[in-house]
Amino acid sequence: MPEPIFFTLTSSPALLESVAKHYQGKIANINLRHFPDGETFFKIEDDVKDRPVVIVETLDHPDDKVMPLMIAADTVKRLGAHSVGLVAPYLAYMRQDKAFSAGEAISSQTFAKLVSEHFDWMVTIDPHLHRYHDLNEIYTIPTQVLHAAPIVADWIQNNIESPMLIGPDSESEQWVSEMAKQINAPYLVLEKTRHGDKDVSIKPVPMDALAGHTPVLVDDMISTGRTLIKVIEDILPETPNQPVCVAIHAVFSGDAFEALKATQIGDIVTTNTIKHPSNRIDISTILLQNEYLSPN
Ligand code: R5P
Repeated sequence: MPEPIFFTLTSSPALLESVAKHYQGKIANINLRHFPDGETFFKIEDDVKDRPVVIVETLDHPDDKVMPLMIAADTVKRLGAHSVGLVAPYLAYMRQDKAFSAGEAISSQTFAKLVSEHFDWMVTIDPHLHRYHDLNEIYTIPTQVLHAAPIVADWIQNNIESPMLIGPDSESEQWVSEMAKQINAPYLVLEKTRHGDKDVSIKPVPMDALAGHTPVLVDDMISTGRTLIKVIEDILPETPNQPVCVAIHAVFSGDAFEALKATQIGDIVTTNTIKHPSNRIDISTILLQNEYLSPN
């Protein structure tokens, strides 16, 4: 296989460099800018003919990224790339997985269609699979899902004394139960109802089991932060040990980070699938398990 070409449009150079180095690829020189009217200009300086091309782009704020991404993928294909793959540590548009009322878009399907039309394969970390059980229900290209749970669990084990893992909703059970098993910690899963973007309620439960433990709230992502804020404010009693939030994807929309910090939270820890000041767990080694690339 000829030397693969890697680049990112806007994402962390550290993740790009680690993946490119592992697969002994070249990091391409690209020119990405916007014309005065806001349209995207993209140029790749390297020869991609007959070479596999990999774009490493995390997909938070996807609407700003999608046009440049599709233009970049189309450009390298037109220039004769052998294939074009997408490594998206965070995959967007997974939560609108059904029309909750008549007339609503199912944007997860639209997004999947768009990516499937422009890429040959995709690798991502812990996409929000709730009503879908597999990405192939909406993506028509080969996809590989990697999991951050093992290294997140390691972090909890190495940094928190006597943790009690708490998942805020039924979706979180998949991560929380795995992590709890790995580190032999107790866990519980709460019941959440979402009433609006920033309006959730959590069913009250007795927290007797918490005695002697540090509550560790575990979620796949923090977006508005309202899920975890609600758990901290309404469910967790005044525990001697302040709760810690650990999430895989640091989406943090609007004032989410500040609002979460303003609670009685002890610490907020995320992985670097999305660059954020709360990043403390490095997922770069997980991205080296890519089954569509082989180290030379
Ligand atoms: C829910 O379905 C997810 O697992 C997260 O709990 C949710 O997306 C967090 O969203 P927010 O921070 O806006 O409450």
